[in-house]
Amino acid sequence: MKKVLVAGGSGYLGRHVAREFKHRGYYVRVLVRNPDKIKEKGEHGEPVIYDLVDDVVTADATQPETLKDICDDIDTVFSSLGLTRPDFKHSSFDIDYMGNKRILDLALASKVKKFIYISVFNAEKMLEIQNIQAHEQFAGELRKSGLDYTIIRPTGYFSDMIQFLNLAKTGIMPILGDGDKHSNPIHAADLAKICVDAVDSDTTDIDAGGPDVFTYREVGELAARVTGKNPFYFNIPLWIGDGLLAVSRLINRDIADIISFALAVSKLDSVAPKHGTHRLEDYFKENL
Ligand SMILES: NC(=O)c1ccc[n+]([C@@H]2O[C@H](COP(=O)([O-])OP(=O)(O)OC[C@H]3O[C@@H](n4cnc5c(N)ncnc54)[C@H](OP(=O)(O)O)[C@@H]3O)[C@@H](O)[C@H]2O)c1
Repeated sequence: MKKVLVAGGSGYLGRHVAREFKHRGYYVRVLVRNPDKIKEKGEHGEPVIYDLVDDVVTADATQPETLKDICDDIDTVFSSLGLTRPDFKHSSFDIDYMGNKRILDLALASKVKKFIYISVFNAEKMLEIQNIQAHEQFAGELRKSGLDYTIIRPTGYFSDMIQFLNLAKTGIMPILGDGDKHSNPIHAADLAKICVDAVDSDTTDIDAGGPDVFTYREVGELAARVTGKNPFYFNIPLWIGDGLLAVSRLINRDIADIISFALAVSKLDSVAPKHGTHRLEDYFKENL
C-alpha cells in the first residue's frame, strides 16, 4: 500500500486532500498542530478526517524536534502547510519557506519518492508580497532538491469567497477597485483530485482554477442572491487600499501581506485552466 504524508492536514485544502488519498487506497499520515481540530467539521465545510486517516502526528513546523520521523516509510509528501492568517510570532518565511524546507529535508533523508507542494497562481506577478515570495522560495528549494516533484498553483479557494457571503449578510458589499477583474475560484475537493493525480504525473508545474469565471463584483452579486439580501455596493478606490497597506506595514507584516494580496488580485485577471465540477453557488448555499 502506498503511503502519503499530508502536511497542513487540518487546513481547508489539506483535509480534502487527505480524504481523496484515503479514497484512492493510500495509507494516510496527517501532520497537524491540534488533532482535535480534525474531529470536527471546519468553518468552511472542511470534512472530519480524524477517524478516516491512518496516523495523526502532532507537530509544529517551527519546532524541528516535533518533526523527526514524520517521513519514515512514506512514499509521497503533500504539503499545503502555510501561514494564511496573521501570526504575531512567525513570518511567512518561518512557516511557508522554513517549515516546508524542514519537511523537505526529512523527506530527502527518508528517501521519499515524490513531493507535491501548493503555491499560488500568478505567483511570478506578485513576488513583492512576502507570503508569495516565501512560497516560491520554497518551490525553488524543491526544484533543486533532486526529488521528483509537482508544484500546483491554484487560484482562490471557495473558502476565501465566504467573505463575500458574510458581507452580503451584513447588507454592505465593499468592492476593492472596480471589481471587474476575473478569476475562477476552485473548491478544495476538485483541487484535491489534481493533487492526488500529481503523484503519478511527470508534470512539474500545474496551474489550476475552478469551472466558472467571475468578476469580483459578480461573486458579490452571487453571494447577495444566495442570502436573499440586497446589499449596498460601494467601490473602495485602489488608492485608499494603497494607503491602508502603507499603514498596515507599520503594524503587522501578515496583515500587510493580506491587504497587499487583495490589492494585487484586484488589479489582475487570475484565470487558470479550468478543472472540477463544484459550483460556487452550491458552496454558498451549503455554507449560509
Ligand atoms: N486560500 C486561497 O485562496 C489560496 C489560493 C492559492 C494558494 N493557497 C495556498 O494554499 C495553502 C493552503 O491553504 P488553505 O486555505 O488550506 O490554508 P489553511 O486552511 O490555513 O491550512 C494551512 C495549514 O497549515 C497548517 N500550519 C500553519 N502553520 C503551521 C505550523 N507552524 N506547523 C504545522 N502546521 C502549520 C495549519 O494548521 P492549523 O490548522 O493548526 O492552523 C493548516 O493545517 C497555503 O499555502 C495557501 O497560501 C491558498
